[in-house]
Amino acid sequence: MKRRIVGVGVLALGCILALSSAAVDRVSAASAAQTVPAESARPDDTACMTCHGAGSSKPAVSISQTRHGNKSDSRTPACRDCHGASENHIKAPSSAPDVAFGAKSKAVSNPEQRSAACLTCHESKVLPRANWTGSQHQSRGVACSDCHNVHAPDQKVLSKATQADVCFGCHKAQRAQVRRVSAHPLATTGLADTRKMACSDCHNPHGSTGPKLLVKNSVNDTCFTCHAEKRGPYLWEHAPVADDCTNCHTPHGSSNAPLLKARVPWLCQDCHSGDHGAQVNSGANLAGARVTTANGAQQPGAAAPRAQLSARACLNCHVLVHGSNHPAGAKFQR
Ligand code: HEC
Ligand code: HEC
Ligand code: HEC
Ligand code: HEC
Ligand code: HEC
Ligand code: HEC
Ligand code: HEC
Ligand code: HEC
Ligand code: HEC
Ligand code: HEC
Repeated sequence: MKRRIVGVGVLALGCILALSSAAVDRVSAASAAQTVPAESARPDDTACMTCHGAGSSKPAVSISQTRHGNKSDSRTPACRDCHGASENHIKAPSSAPDVAFGAKSKAVSNPEQRSAACLTCHESKVLPRANWTGSQHQSRGVACSDCHNVHAPDQKVLSKATQADVCFGCHKAQRAQVRRVSAHPLATTGLADTRKMACSDCHNPHGSTGPKLLVKNSVNDTCFTCHAEKRGPYLWEHAPVADDCTNCHTPHGSSNAPLLKARVPWLCQDCHSGDHGAQVNSGANLAGARVTTANGAQQPGAAAPRAQLSARACLNCHVLVHGSNHPAGAKFQR
């Protein structure tokens, strides 16, 4: 009885494999012209499959449903390309294979060995990962397999909906930040699934030529990939905007909308003191002791309108904080 059930399982699996290899054949027909090492150069999986094949006590066949299972692509890794020749393990399965990755492993290989198993192909030949060596992750002992679950048909880290969960496993501070009232749509907040973006929209976890593993060479260039309108050019530039968006914004989340490091007017007063900033209650220092409010009404300075603190504070008048293109917009009022 037990044997029958296993048999049906193997049959069903056979069908899945046949289906997926038909799809795979179509793909590889298109790329057959590529120059790749001869298939005979790949190690043989037979020895491993006697114990790890379908229906065995330690099946490891799910990888055949991934892009590493494309048998008709001669670049596809065999078990031993990643796990090493593992002669001792074949003879005595209780001893670990040459390269062991899993959290459940008895003897996990060190991060360099684990990543080296991937870099033989991914350093330059297949889907190359530039700037890995010397990157923050590489130098702190993070390995490819800490993010990539290569045996899983649906890798969490490769999907926008689930990627952040993988990162949050190590980056607890960012997990807390993206749950604040104002945040990029990165986490599930309340009922709505707001995961429209992934960490990898701004960061390249493999390494980068910019700071903080950013996808571009600077914070601003990274922000401009989506907020292009903030790039300008402006006739009247606000120096801290051109310098670095994080002078005022925090990228992951804040309790001050929209993603501000502090609430206005305090945000502005971090940099602007002097007469105008100090006499926020009077407006008496402004031109003609009269100021223009948001609704255009003239207010006598002596009336102490508290305009600089009430409602949108500085933004009541300085509406274009990112820069202005109006000939009279030097103070970002229009
Ligand atoms: C004679 C049977 C047998 C053969 C042949 C065999 N394995 Fe295993 N393998 C096992 C068993 C049994 C386990 C579970 C060991 C345990 O849990 O103590 C295992 C475990 C593993 C593990 C997990 C080890 C860990 O600690 O994470 C890997 C990876 C592995 N085998 C890869 C391979 C590869 C690659 C080959 C071919 C080169 C291979 N095996 C050949 C029986 C075998
Ligand atoms: C022998 C070569 C080889 C080795 C070793 C290898 N890969 Fe790959 N990898 C490939 C090929 C071939 C593809 C498919 C490329 C394609 O479809 O264009 C691939 C695809 C991938 C993808 C994309 C998968 C997807 O579903 O989109 C990831 C991620 C990846 N490899 C990670 C790894 C990691 C992590 C390791 C080490 C644990 C590794 N690879 C080891 C050859 C290799
Ligand atoms: C910190 C987590 C992390 C680490 C460590 C990591 N990756 Fe990735 N990897 C990702 C994410 C996220 C993506 C998807 C976004 C992207 O392409 O940057 C990805 C994508 C890939 C892809 C391309 C998949 C495709 O379909 O284009 C390959 C290949 C790959 N990684 C291989 C590696 C290799 C090899 C290593 C180790 C040298 C490694 N990764 C280390 C997170 C990681
Ligand atoms: C692309 C590299 C790669 C290839 C090819 C590969 N593995 Fe693995 N293997 C890994 C990684 C990485 C892990 C750790 C778990 C994960 O990432 O899914 C692993 C885990 C395992 C485990 C332990 C599973 C567990 O849940 O602890 C076994 C057993 C195993 N592999 C056997 C095999 C066999 C047999 C083959 C050939 C059919 C094979 N692997 C092909 C990279 C690879
Ligand atoms: C296995 C743990 C681990 C995982 C998973 C992980 N990281 Fe990291 N990450 C680290 C470590 C360790 C550092 C180095 C921290 C340091 O230098 O303070 C780091 C640093 C960083 C940095 C900062 C670089 C700098 O210059 O300070 C960024 C950005 C980053 N990771 C993004 C990610 C993203 C995005 C993901 C998911 C795709 C991810 N990490 C997944 C461990 C991890
Ligand atoms: C909108 C772009 C953007 C997104 C999306 C994003 N980051 Fe960042 N991240 C940045 C910028 C910019 C910095 C550097 C400025 C800073 O530290 O505030 C940074 C810094 C970091 C750092 C280093 C923090 C430090 O104190 O040095 C880590 C770790 C990090 N991000 C992880 C993540 C993780 C994990 C995700 C996904 C949940 C993510 N980031 C999503 C833009 C982004
Ligand atoms: C991959 C695209 C992308 C990148 C890169 C990006 N953003 Fe955003 N940004 C968005 C999206 C999407 C929203 C949400 C818009 C919405 O909710 O309507 C947003 C919203 C914002 C908001 C308004 C938040 C609110 O609560 O209304 C600010 C401020 C912001 N981003 C600043 C930045 C900064 C600073 C950077 C660079 C560190 C950056 N963004 C990089 C896509 C991006
Ligand atoms: C001097 C402080 C400051 C700097 C620097 C700054 N911002 Fe802002 N940003 C603000 C303030 C204040 C608001 C709210 C404006 C409002 O409510 O009218 C805002 C709002 C936003 C918004 C949402 C509303 C809108 O205008 O679309 C986005 C997106 C944004 N900023 C992106 C950026 C980007 C990208 C950079 C870097 C190029 C940047 N900011 C630099 C202060 C700043
Ligand atoms: C990180 C520091 C910093 C922050 C925060 C900041 N500014 Fe500025 N701001 C500057 C610098 C530097 C200049 C250029 C001063 C100069 O050219 O003399 C400037 C110029 C200005 C000017 C034009 C001044 C002139 O003399 O032409 C106005 C108006 C202004 N900022 C308003 C604001 C408002 C409103 C906020 C808050 C939303 C703000 N600033 C936040 C640094 C900052
Ligand atoms: C009621 C309207 C109004 C409010 C509110 C307001 N300002 Fe102004 N601000 C002005 C006007 C008008 C000028 C131009 C004065 C001039 O041209 O002599 C100005 C000029 C400035 C300048 C240029 C330097 C100077 O003193 O002439 C800075 C910097 C500035 N404001 C910052 C701020 C900050 C910071 C806040 C919030 C604490 C703020 N303003 C609130 C109307 C306002």
